[in-house]
Amino acid sequence: MSASETPLERVAIVGAGVIGNGWAARCLAHGLDVTVTDPDPDAERRLHEAIETAWPTLEKRGVAPGASRNRVRFTTDLADAVAGAQLIQENAPEREGLKREVLARIDAAADPDAIIGSSTSGLLPSTLQADCSHPERVMVAHPFNPVYLLPLVELVGGEQTDPAAVQRGAELYRVIGMRPLIVRREIEGHIADRLMEALWREALHLVNDGVATTEEVDAAVVYGAGLRWSLMGTFLTFHLAGGEGGMRHMLEQFGPALKLPWTKLEAPELTDELIERVADGCEHQAAGRSVQQLEARRDEFLRRLLDLVSEYWPEAEGLEGRI
Ligand SMILES: NC(=O)c1ccc[n+]([C@@H]2O[C@H](COP(=O)([O-])OP(=O)(O)OC[C@H]3O[C@@H](n4cnc5c(N)ncnc54)[C@H](O)[C@@H]3O)[C@@H](O)[C@H]2O)c1
Repeated sequence: MSASETPLERVAIVGAGVIGNGWAARCLAHGLDVTVTDPDPDAERRLHEAIETAWPTLEKRGVAPGASRNRVRFTTDLADAVAGAQLIQENAPEREGLKREVLARIDAAADPDAIIGSSTSGLLPSTLQADCSHPERVMVAHPFNPVYLLPLVELVGGEQTDPAAVQRGAELYRVIGMRPLIVRREIEGHIADRLMEALWREALHLVNDGVATTEEVDAAVVYGAGLRWSLMGTFLTFHLAGGEGGMRHMLEQFGPALKLPWTKLEAPELTDELIERVADGCEHQAAGRSVQQLEARRDEFLRRLLDLVSEYWPEAEGLEGRI
């Protein structure tokens, strides 16, 4: 059996923060053996806590036969963690120099056929793979928080990535229930974070300019566009906004508005005052609930929403980039 046909059995997670732990929980739920590494001595405690928090929701969604929370091993030794893994996911802090160094160490210790994905939200794969001896199997594999529930993973190859490795990566991520979206060309922020950053910049301006509170901005998303976005993206949503004429009519009607100077491409300065306003606003919205309590509420909601999305887009199952 060649390496590309070996079934996925072992995954290594490098960097056990919010995202690394989310990957670990997802892989465990799919019945895999998972090794996790992080230099922080407190990371092991956080890893187990994160798995415990995610597991009830994962069980409700249905875990694979043989899946167990106990099939995870923690080590501070990176080389030990990645040896023998078929898929290695890097989730170190978003700092270019650090990530390059961590990826080079992963590359040196990994099996030659292992696929190496970086969770980076915005860095380019060509930069990240630059110090690797086998850059052809290094790619961006950008997920969404919570990784154990949200299926999107953006796969982006760099100048030195072999397109066949990206296809192999897509197969492996599908094994753990993800929906790979292969990004055609590398670009900072990939696709999804480009969109999210645009919304985030506008949201910060609205709060900074005193137009709205954080709660009011969130209400504008949650009770309006956000509800539609869980089923249809921006384009299909606007196709419906054009009535019988669809997108063509929508562009005729609203196209001129694109020339209005509404949007601000640059984010506002993160002054102490803005930071206070945004952080206080979020604490007011949380109304005494801890982040963990909010996560539990979010997870239960997402679990049911995912079922709804599958019910309403059955034909999109397994298709890439559809919906
Ligand atoms: N938080 C999000 O919503 C989100 C979403 C998608 C992608 N990402 C990306 O995932 C990556 C991790 O983000 P996060 O939010 O989990 O950060 P985090 O701060 O929660 O976790 C980072 C972890 O990396 C560990 N670390 C530090 N130095 C390390 C090293 N040399 N080797 C291995 N691990 C090391 C830290 O101890 C920490 O546990 C970033 O690249 C980020 O852009 C984040």
